[in-house]
Amino acid sequence: MFAAIPILLFVVFGGTNCATPIVMWHGMGDSCCFDFSLGAIKKSLNESIPGVYVNSLRIGDTIIKDMENGYFLHPDKQIEMACNIIKSDSNLVDGYNAIGFSQGAQFLRALVQKCPLPPMKNLISVGGQHQGVYGLPNCGSLSNKACDYIRRLLNHAAYIGWVQETLVQATYWHDPLNETEYKQYSTFLADINNEININTDYIKNLQSLEHFVLIKFENDTIVQPVDTEWFGFYKPGQSVQTQTLQESDLYKDDKLGLKQMNDNDQLKFLATPGNHLRFQWDWFEANIIKPYLTN
Ligand SMILES: *[C@@H]1O[C@H](CO)[C@@H](O)[C@H](O)[C@H]1NC(C)=O
Ligand SMILES: *[C@@H]1O[C@H](CO)[C@@H](O)[C@H](O)[C@H]1NC(C)=O
Ligand SMILES: *[C@@H]1O[C@H](CO)[C@@H](O)[C@H](O)[C@H]1NC(C)=O
Repeated sequence: MFAAIPILLFVVFGGTNCATPIVMWHGMGDSCCFDFSLGAIKKSLNESIPGVYVNSLRIGDTIIKDMENGYFLHPDKQIEMACNIIKSDSNLVDGYNAIGFSQGAQFLRALVQKCPLPPMKNLISVGGQHQGVYGLPNCGSLSNKACDYIRRLLNHAAYIGWVQETLVQATYWHDPLNETEYKQYSTFLADINNEININTDYIKNLQSLEHFVLIKFENDTIVQPVDTEWFGFYKPGQSVQTQTLQESDLYKDDKLGLKQMNDNDQLKFLATPGNHLRFQWDWFEANIIKPYLTN
């Protein structure tokens, strides 16, 4: 009789913890844990999916270091750190769903391509820049002076060696006026997009996702061009007209396996009104949580 109670409790709590755990990666100028950003999202996730385990990645020993690393630690090193965090988290051994915000979305995509175990199941890209950016009108929490400096650097020197090594945003700077230069000198994006060499592990690992969900913000004034949130970009050679992923050579030649994923219905393209990262929780619950995060 007495023994029945703990068993019952075990079942109840065990049941709520069955939800697939979630890993989140913050955007530029943000950190793992601010109350007003990912801290709040973590809370909301816990309300929408009772008891869900959430690991909001902190890249560095402190929140401040985490924020700085979003500007100054090469993405490859950040991804290596993230891979170690995920591998050593016992809650994630059976796999996890991932939500990346802004640049955190392309970093999580790189993570699944480079660090396939434990398995990532669904990848939710919230305003990510999978074809890079050409323009940086806003640097989040950095001062105007620092922001101006970064912009000038990106406009004039993004592909110079030391800039690639010291400024994260340079590694996904995509100058459509000179695609050759971008492919040759981008030390992160050109690599994970298989622009120079075809890394077949990247294809296999990316295709191991159940779904790759790309959320675009229809009224985004931060990300240029906004098409990059759906893996589109400017047509090569100019910076006015854009093309969709499906119109790009990356897709037609299927260098990253995305065409095959689309044919298998693994790619999901969602749009929501609002500026960068401004979404309604109701919308997120109905369109993301219910279909992809409650399995
Ligand atoms: C999650 O919600 C439960 C109540 O449903 C609460 O007891 C718990 O502290 C919450 N955890 C987090 C991390 O917010
Ligand atoms: C593109 O960049 C390369 C390498 O920096 C340079 O040699 C080439 O002339 C550039 N092409 C154009 C069209 O500007
Ligand atoms: C947001 O973008 C959509 C789609 O492009 C457009 O129809 C709508 O008018 C825009 N809303 C605002 C407030 O600019």
